[in-house]
Amino acid sequence: MKLRLLLLCVLLALFFVSCEMKKEKKEHRHGRGRGRGHGHGHDHHGKHRGRGRFDEITTDEFFQIIPGADNEDEEEDHSSDWLYELQEPEGHCNPNPCRNRGVCEEKERGKRKFKCHCEKPFKGKKCEKGPKRCRKGRCGRGECVLTSRPPYYECKCKEPFRPPNCERHSVCDPNPCHNGALCVKDGNDFDCACPTGFSGRYCQVGPNDCYTGDGESYRGNVSETDDGHECLFWNSHFLLESGTNPFEADENEDGLGPHNFCRNPDGSQMPWCFYRKGRRLWWDYCDVRHCDDPTDEPTTVKPTDQPGPTQPAPPPPPGPTEPAPPPPAPTEPVPPPPSTTSAQGTTPVPGPTPAPTNASDAQFRTCGMPQPKKAITRIFGGLKVAPGAIPWQASIQVRPKNSNLSYRHVCGGVLIESCWVLTAGHCIPTNQDMRVVLGSQDLSSEEPNEQALTVAEAIRHENYNEKPYAVYNDIGLLRLEDKNGECAKESQFVKTACLPDAPLPDGTECTISGWGATENSSYGSQHLLEANVLLINQEKCSERDVYGSSLDGGMLCAGHLQGGVDSCQGDSGGPLTCEENSTHEVYGLVSWGDQCGKKNKPGVYTRVTNYLDWIKSTMAAPLP
Ligand code: ARG
Repeated sequence: MKLRLLLLCVLLALFFVSCEMKKEKKEHRHGRGRGRGHGHGHDHHGKHRGRGRFDEITTDEFFQIIPGADNEDEEEDHSSDWLYELQEPEGHCNPNPCRNRGVCEEKERGKRKFKCHCEKPFKGKKCEKGPKRCRKGRCGRGECVLTSRPPYYECKCKEPFRPPNCERHSVCDPNPCHNGALCVKDGNDFDCACPTGFSGRYCQVGPNDCYTGDGESYRGNVSETDDGHECLFWNSHFLLESGTNPFEADENEDGLGPHNFCRNPDGSQMPWCFYRKGRRLWWDYCDVRHCDDPTDEPTTVKPTDQPGPTQPAPPPPPGPTEPAPPPPAPTEPVPPPPSTTSAQGTTPVPGPTPAPTNASDAQFRTCGMPQPKKAITRIFGGLKVAPGAIPWQASIQVRPKNSNLSYRHVCGGVLIESCWVLTAGHCIPTNQDMRVVLGSQDLSSEEPNEQALTVAEAIRHENYNEKPYAVYNDIGLLRLEDKNGECAKESQFVKTACLPDAPLPDGTECTISGWGATENSSYGSQHLLEANVLLINQEKCSERDVYGSSLDGGMLCAGHLQGGVDSCQGDSGGPLTCEENSTHEVYGLVSWGDQCGKKNKPGVYTRVTNYLDWIKSTMAAPLP
């Protein structure tokens, strides 16, 4: 049984190897922001039509009809309690154990040393329980969104399902199409025949719907990603369950509100939105036109133009090889930190610019300081990585020795010095060429801020030991090949993380990140994703029903409140960082776990504090 876990890791790592990381630019279907017309309807619809939208909805685990789910009112949901139980909630008020803005009061007596005073409508020992209005099945074939007024939720039915519970369906009745568009019925599916100039699945996108600059001021109606995924509502229960302010009633100054239109609230490159793929949250840029671009595509979508549900659409290509235009260079002016003296965001071309003699000394003077980021990444539990938010994240890539084949992502890593990347021991392959890519966001396109460096030496911990049930001393160091005395160059997008110096308390909130796999896509994510996890008490994690005696002192467990979000295959070697005194320390390295996101089976991470001496002595050792 446990053997399966390791085998899975290895198999999926191999999957990554076999899945070509397209470094060449991805096909420009519309040419992101360049010369694209309002073509939302065409190919996107086609893509969803493979199986028919109706079937997609009825087979989606999130849209199941659970008899009675809509009338049991506010029954306690203990689905997230497992993590609290694993944490021994007996700490003090520092760090604040209370969630959702709860105020912590220190207690003299009693088992627990604190009491949380919760803000309405939160409850629970740590104010972790919101109104459980969006339990599974509550909205049938619809998305449950949170609202600020009783009953605190609303069901947004998927077309053609109907309120109040999104169980009943009627196609084209009432007409779901906007702007006078005709609804063309086809069995249980439908198409909207948009009037000239209108587009979008529901013809909700008008002829003047476009964004300027980076789209920060965009308030249009596009609600689909570039690949045709329907955007989640910004107040979606799925999106906000780990958030801090789910009850935003009106559109805020960033344009977020109770709708699912694309926005750019966080200084990204263009409007984007979250979408859901299985149980994992993703994001992508939207299929929205830049106002400077000519509308070069026919804007009228006649019913005959559209691939109808009867015409089978080509199956979507898997995972990160899906064609999506590469993002343009980030244009947002982010002030460089004072310590940054090097060229900002340049590719590592050894240029003629006279470098200071001690160039590398001036660099990486600070560690653990990401680019200041806008609020969005925090609001939503840190699920969308803003450019420069995890500047120490590395992608470890391999290719057959001495070949000319393209490199493929296998693991994550963490930049801790200009020439050193920390990773998991099991990420070090035998007999492969290895390189490290830093400053990358989207692995499927070559981005202007990324730096690719050859690995000169890969050192695995001498006591590394792979057992069927666990991996011991799962740590390794990669020495990068230097060019003129320097390896990685510090930029807005490439910085080092700090090493920790002391253990952190259980329950500390830390961040994991990577391009790893999901339950639905063994190929992983094309965009870097991050999530917050809480450190779990070691004894609790060593209990029989968790990992028993498989754990040793070189490991730590960390989990996510909802249980559904975890690191996974392909994230290995990547960082678990925790913020201490406003700097980010690599406290763990993604190592193993019994599947991903399963209750009572949190992610297991290499405990970096256990290996500080090894790390320091390995880096200080004379070069071979
Ligand atoms: N071994 C996996 C890899 O090579 C990482 C698994 C992490 N699993 C988890 N449940 N957190 O990428």
